[in-house]
Amino acid sequence: MIPAQIIALKRDGGELSDSQIGQFIAGFAADEIPDYQMSAMAMAIFLNGMTDAETASLTHHMLNSGARLSWPENGIPRGDKHSTGGVGDKISIPLAPILACCGLQVPMLSGRGLGATGGTLDKLESISGYRTDLSLSEVTQLTQEVGCVITGASPELAPADRRLYALRDVTATVPSIPLITASIMSKKLAESPDALVLDVKFGSGAFMKTKEQARALAQSLVQTGERMNVRTTALLTDMNQPLGRMCGNANEIKESIDVLKATGPDDVTELTLDLAAELLHSSGLAESVEDARRSAQATIDDGSALQKLEQMVVAQGGSSLDVSIAEAHEVCAQRAGVVQAVETEQLGLAVIALGGGRRQMTDAIDHSVGFEYLVRVGDTVEAGQPLIKVFAQNAEIVSDQVIGAITIGDTGSPLTLVAERLTADNC
Ligand code: URA
Repeated sequence: MIPAQIIALKRDGGELSDSQIGQFIAGFAADEIPDYQMSAMAMAIFLNGMTDAETASLTHHMLNSGARLSWPENGIPRGDKHSTGGVGDKISIPLAPILACCGLQVPMLSGRGLGATGGTLDKLESISGYRTDLSLSEVTQLTQEVGCVITGASPELAPADRRLYALRDVTATVPSIPLITASIMSKKLAESPDALVLDVKFGSGAFMKTKEQARALAQSLVQTGERMNVRTTALLTDMNQPLGRMCGNANEIKESIDVLKATGPDDVTELTLDLAAELLHSSGLAESVEDARRSAQATIDDGSALQKLEQMVVAQGGSSLDVSIAEAHEVCAQRAGVVQAVETEQLGLAVIALGGGRRQMTDAIDHSVGFEYLVRVGDTVEAGQPLIKVFAQNAEIVSDQVIGAITIGDTGSPLTLVAERLTADNC
């Protein structure tokens, strides 16, 4: 079939075969199918969706458009976590060393901030000298020597996704479950992992605004991972307020270190341990999720996970875990009441307004700015009580945005962070 016939089949709601999808993606990767035909195909997929088999096939062919990490057959399991992104989500930074200390090798390929959500690479670049551009051979070497790396995805991995993502961004085809699934999973599967865990977020600070949308995405991700023979589980987590207290870059590094010193906020510590437990169990390193969680907790208690983070930072060129944070200014409640709701996306955008995120890909980041979220949904507050500490010289530019993002009412109840767990058996 010529490309236009394959596009027409999808446009009319038909199901594409594996060979039609393979022909299309291989043609796109080889520059034989131009961007305008790929954009038309993305829109046809956006409008008509894909079956599970089509989504798995799309993922498989996008994965095959590039290189894959290769590992020795030495019985050591490898795994990774992917988060759909949130405000204050620094989990990868304490998680990778905890997993490495428990015997899982973690070649974590992370991203930069997207929209209002922060990016792990931007946070790690608060550490002077830290390299996020490791080559594929450095990733495989350091993962085996240290146990974990956190770096950017190199252009050799899933190059079809890199080009397709740029097209989706400008053709209004980003929010499509099969396209998101193939995009995320082709990059993660290029690490050749034995197991994956997905943190799929919903709420005011997430890409997926409702739990139902997040569940549908999580189901698609888990089913695709399992079809590709990688043990995959997912947690649906609430992003209706920032994760932890710190949002920004350098201050999130500090909070990640606090988690490994057992002095971090409860929500970040609990979610880190929950995700660690899922991966250690699904990769066969623990008999049960409960045993896995105990092993992960032990690496915090004995200080080994903190030492492992230091080792990883040094191996990636970082000098020390000391980071610099701008001066703090408090923003206070204008009335007494209960914290009812948070427009978390607005708080993420406030970090960007301070210079802690990018408006355009070429923007430089000020790693020292951000804020500390001092209350939680359901807390009772007094008029004049500090709600947020803004770290910036020009903190006043976001005061109204920050105050407007936090609704104080007469009632409100605490949120449950982990709403659901999805495995191959229940989705
Ligand atoms: N993150 C990705 O990597 N791809 C998407 O399509 C959406 C979020």
